[in-house]
Amino acid sequence: MTILLDDPADAAALLRAGELVAFATETVYGLGADARNGRAVAGIFEAKGRPHFNPLICHFPDAEAAWAEVRPDERARKLAAAFWPGPLTLVLPRRADCRVDLLAGAGLDTLAVRVPGHPGALELLRLAGTPVAAPSANRSGRVSPTTTAHVLEELSGRIAAVLEGGDCEVGVESTVLDLAAGGAALLRPGGVPVEAIEAVIGPVGRALPISAAPEPTLRSPGLMLSHYAPSLPLRLDAVEVAPDEALLAFGSPLPGAAQVYQLSETRDLREAAARLFSGLRALDRPGLRGIAAMPIPGEGLGPAIRDRLDRAAAPRG
Ligand code: TXA
Ligand code: MG
Repeated sequence: MTILLDDPADAAALLRAGELVAFATETVYGLGADARNGRAVAGIFEAKGRPHFNPLICHFPDAEAAWAEVRPDERARKLAAAFWPGPLTLVLPRRADCRVDLLAGAGLDTLAVRVPGHPGALELLRLAGTPVAAPSANRSGRVSPTTTAHVLEELSGRIAAVLEGGDCEVGVESTVLDLAAGGAALLRPGGVPVEAIEAVIGPVGRALPISAAPEPTLRSPGLMLSHYAPSLPLRLDAVEVAPDEALLAFGSPLPGAAQVYQLSETRDLREAAARLFSGLRALDRPGLRGIAAMPIPGEGLGPAIRDRLDRAAAPRG
């Protein structure tokens, strides 16, 4: 059952306990989870019924809290001073000691961060004392909710609680700006107009629309996803494993691998999702021929895990 809460302290306690809580921001309602907790983050994808893992935005009560997890450059500091709290998301390099679980960032070395311009959200984030990963609080493929009633229509029974926060003022998602690659690229238009950003940091590149994009090189999630892939070749649905291969196990491991990373001994798909990116990174070591992944079932979070493995296994150009 999903409960309605008025007190941000109750919502913060649920988040800290690994539960999913929807909350209002100035843009749309977010579906929040403790971003340090991989199982909680996996729960977001499960609740949304999303068939793939995309990187999520992490929310913070102030810029200092964000800078504890990512490395801002001068432009990021200026933009934060100009637009936070507010509907601007910055993609920046993760710090080496970043506490955000790899699943929240879809395994990437970068992280999207923002300080939302809604007093209830800020209070919740302060009290939670942890980065909060939150995509829009809708089922996959449906429009983003801007009222508590919309959230309940979408997710009632699938999440622990909704923190009442009134109607969202902006109604469209935050602008997503990539500052991690050296330049400045608009990944998603949103609540802060790009002209306002350019007035602070100068010219911003616009990502190409998908139809015009040169195949898999384009770095533009929201339009097209740049994704983490191991450098070793990946073999799917393995039923046996060679002595010079690493094994990504799900359930009883196949015998004979050079190295084994267990996604979930008990074949729990949420646990497997939470451990997927750590597993790929742990096994991606020189000296081996490749990684063999055991079959993943097709229900629940299974398709999202398989989608990610498929992409990692696809030949790269
Ligand atoms: O207004 C908003 O931004 C709402 C509210 C709840 O804050 N949140 C939201 O989150 O829209 P989400 O997860 O649905 O959108 C995340 C966007 C996607 O387009 C994603 O691809 C991009 O940000 N993104 C996240 N992390 C990224 C990264 N490391 N690199 C590039 N793009 C990233
Ligand atoms: Mg959305």
